[in-house]
Amino acid sequence: MTILQELESRLNSALFAVLGEPATAPVTAAADLRFGDYQSNAAMVLAKRRKTNPRALAQEILDALDLGGLATAEIAGPGFLNFRILPEAYAAKAKELLADPQLGVPAVGDGQTVVVDFSAPNVAKPMHVGHIRSTIIGDSLCRIARYLGFKVIADNHIGDWGTQFGMILHGWKTLLDEAALEADPIPELLRVYREVNAATKDDAAVLETCKNELVKLQAGDEENLAIWKRCIEVSKIGLRRIYDTLDVKFDYWLGESHYNDRLAGLVDEFLEKGLARESDGAVCVFSDGTKKPADDPFKVSRDGEWMDNPAIIRKADGGFLYATTDLATIEYRIDEWHADQIWYVVGVPQQLHFRQLFEAAERWGKTGNCRHVAFGSILGEDRKLMKTRSGDNVQLTDVLDEAVERAARIIAEKNPDLQGDEAAEIAQTVGIGAVKFAELSQNRLTDYVFAWDRMLALQGDTAPYLQYSHVRIRSIFRKLDAEFDASAAEISLAEEAEVHLARLHARFGELLPMVLEDFRPNLLANYLLELARAFHSFFEACPVLKSDEPLRSSRLALCELTGRILNTGLGLLGIRCPERM
Ligand code: ARG
Repeated sequence: MTILQELESRLNSALFAVLGEPATAPVTAAADLRFGDYQSNAAMVLAKRRKTNPRALAQEILDALDLGGLATAEIAGPGFLNFRILPEAYAAKAKELLADPQLGVPAVGDGQTVVVDFSAPNVAKPMHVGHIRSTIIGDSLCRIARYLGFKVIADNHIGDWGTQFGMILHGWKTLLDEAALEADPIPELLRVYREVNAATKDDAAVLETCKNELVKLQAGDEENLAIWKRCIEVSKIGLRRIYDTLDVKFDYWLGESHYNDRLAGLVDEFLEKGLARESDGAVCVFSDGTKKPADDPFKVSRDGEWMDNPAIIRKADGGFLYATTDLATIEYRIDEWHADQIWYVVGVPQQLHFRQLFEAAERWGKTGNCRHVAFGSILGEDRKLMKTRSGDNVQLTDVLDEAVERAARIIAEKNPDLQGDEAAEIAQTVGIGAVKFAELSQNRLTDYVFAWDRMLALQGDTAPYLQYSHVRIRSIFRKLDAEFDASAAEISLAEEAEVHLARLHARFGELLPMVLEDFRPNLLANYLLELARAFHSFFEACPVLKSDEPLRSSRLALCELTGRILNTGLGLLGIRCPERM
């Protein structure tokens, strides 16, 4: 049980005693430590309902409250209950956490299956920095959910069946450099795509040829299917390289094409069940009129009037769309994987698509508890969308290469002793970690500015700062002659810096479930920064190795626990900790 849960349960017993009936009241971590560690407004809420004086009720609750050595409590302001956790309770908690591989994090997932749909780049098109957000946020959510006891299925829903294949097929047949494709598939496919795309702009005949190639592919032409298959294969090789660099793994790669066979039947079913109807030859899902127009994804306001805004699931020419595939995908994930929840980590511009999708699926009876985990854009330091000098989207691989190069330079400067493979590996860990942390420490919905110097700084709100803090802790233990057994240490907290460190240790298990409530890895990122800062203050104020026993062991144990939480927490963000740097 976390300290928060224990407080809540004790408070609820007191409420029962006072009110004569069961009542629950939430306890929250206090925003300002001067007033205590936790707070509850139970008395104020309940007094209103019972029309009594809140401070008097608060006093009654306090009189009935048995805090069992956990905390002291007092009444503040109009009737708040403020709790201050006793140092002994934090010490006991630290001792408990040292023996707990889960570090106090409860298994709130309870074995539920959650499908996380993230990254999902489009084959034969470059993965750009926009995809980086989905990949990094999605991967972190998978790691956190797994740690919290969910059964996680990471699915890369790649765009492997789009109109781009018309151009790719034509380019493959006329422009492809096989050797270049072997060496590095993604740039070669991209070159081919770009050249054909440019040619279609000048020459209508080329555009026509591409369209024909696409129609042939969709009709099952063998040659085109074979090229398409190879194209997917080589693209996956290129993508895997990027995911390896990022240390990102998927359980499945079921791209859009995986659902092709299901689309025709799905549209028929929608028509039969009256979930969709024909409109100008196309098949569409319309508003069912049960929602206020402002909340209805199938309505849009134009010139002050509400108009229909249907989702097309079959075009007049018989073609299927993104939405059709996504409906089939939901059905598959529920039927085959028994998904209890599905999280889509996709940018804000697709918000309407997902609102329509979830509503259509719901009416169809496929309740997958779908959530759109949206995010904003990445901006360059000029606060404009990040582009290369030639105006293209910046490519993900270039960003990662540059991060590693810059990290290598910084490490060479700070620690010239590190050489060769070790230095290269550390540069990799630090550079990639910096990019990930810059992403994950932001509120996902705000646009964030990509600033190299800021994300790589050793002092600042960065991954290198956290990695360095971890290295510093590990180096304390390297100075010991004998293995330190933290679980045997008696913990005592006298200095405020020690109490604060232990307070943050106890918070880890309370904070992590909150990250998933609204998909905010930045809560974890910021917590880790706070923990590292608390550690440095503690380390400055409290001698560790120079203290006498039993204080020395107590402090070493606090170092150990801090190191474990930093390592685990960074790991949940997909960031590794080097032993040295
Ligand atoms: N391929 C799409 C894109 O790059 C993202 C797919 C997201 N997942 C989904 N099930 N729609 O925009």
